[in-house]
Amino acid sequence: MQQEKVEQTLVLIKPDALKNSVTGFLLSQLSEYHTGSRFAGAKIVQVSRMLAEQHYAAHQGKPFYEALLDYIMGRAHYPDDAWKRRVIAIVYLGPGALKKVRSVAGPTDPHVARDEQPGCIRALGTVVPIKNAAGEVISERLDNLIHASATHDEAEREIKLWFTPCDIPPLMRTYPTDVCEEHYYLKDGELSDTYEPGSVCLFAPGDVVWSSDLELLRSCTRNAQAASSCDVVIAKYLINRNPLDD
Ligand code: GTP
Ligand code: MG
Repeated sequence: MQQEKVEQTLVLIKPDALKNSVTGFLLSQLSEYHTGSRFAGAKIVQVSRMLAEQHYAAHQGKPFYEALLDYIMGRAHYPDDAWKRRVIAIVYLGPGALKKVRSVAGPTDPHVARDEQPGCIRALGTVVPIKNAAGEVISERLDNLIHASATHDEAEREIKLWFTPCDIPPLMRTYPTDVCEEHYYLKDGELSDTYEPGSVCLFAPGDVVWSSDLELLRSCTRNAQAASSCDVVIAKYLINRNPLDD
C-alpha cells in the first residue's frame, strides 16, 4: 500500500467557535485519533487588519471581503469587547494531514455542510446576511467555525504567515530556514537596518527565520520597495505586540 506523505496544515479556530465554546469539540475532532495528525505549533492571536488582509488576500474585492475581515479579526462576534477578539492558530503535522483535516472541517458553506456532510464541524456553523446602510441584503457571511489549508502551497504560505520557525519544534519543521546575519527594523511603515526609538525589531543577527522571509526582506531593502510589499513577513512579527486599534 502506498504510504501517505507527512504534511503540515494550518488550522484557525475562528472567533465564532470561541464565542460558542465549541473549541474542545473541534480539538477532539482534529485529534490524532480522528486525523492521525499531531500538534506542531499553537498560539492565541488577536488578528490585526494587516494579518487578516494577508490571510484572505485571494478574496480582496469580493462583496463579502470586508465582512470576512471583520469576522476573522473578531469584530463581528465581539463588537464591544476588544480583548475577547482572538483566534487559536494551530499547525498540524501528519500523513495526508491536508485532506484529513479538510474532511473533518467539511464544506465551506454551513448550509451545504449540513446537507452534504452532517457531523462535520462546519455543519454547526451559521450564515449571516450582510446589509448595506439602507438595510438591503448585499451578501452573506459564512460563519464556519474553522479554517483549514486547502493545498500544499496554501499551507506553506499560511504557516509562514502565522508562525515563525521557532514557534515549531525543529524536528517538526518542513520549510527551509536560515540564520539571519543582519538587522531589520520597522518604523512608521519604513524598513531600516538601524534602530531608532519606536522601531520594531523584525530580525536580529542569530535569529532563525524562514529562508523565504529573509529573501523577501533583503529584496525589499535592496530595491528600496515600500515596506508594505513585505506585509506577508511583517504581520507575523507584529502578532500580539501591542493592543490593536479599534
Ligand atoms: P477556509 O478554510 O476558511 O479558507 O475556507 P475554504 O477554504 O473552505 O473557503 P475559501 O478559502 O474559498 O474562503 C475563505 C472564507 O471566505 C470561507 O471560510 C468563507 O467564510 C468565505 N467565503 C468563501 N467563499 C465565499 C462565498 O462565496 N460567499 C461568502 N459569503 N463567503 C465566502
Ligand atoms: Mg480556504
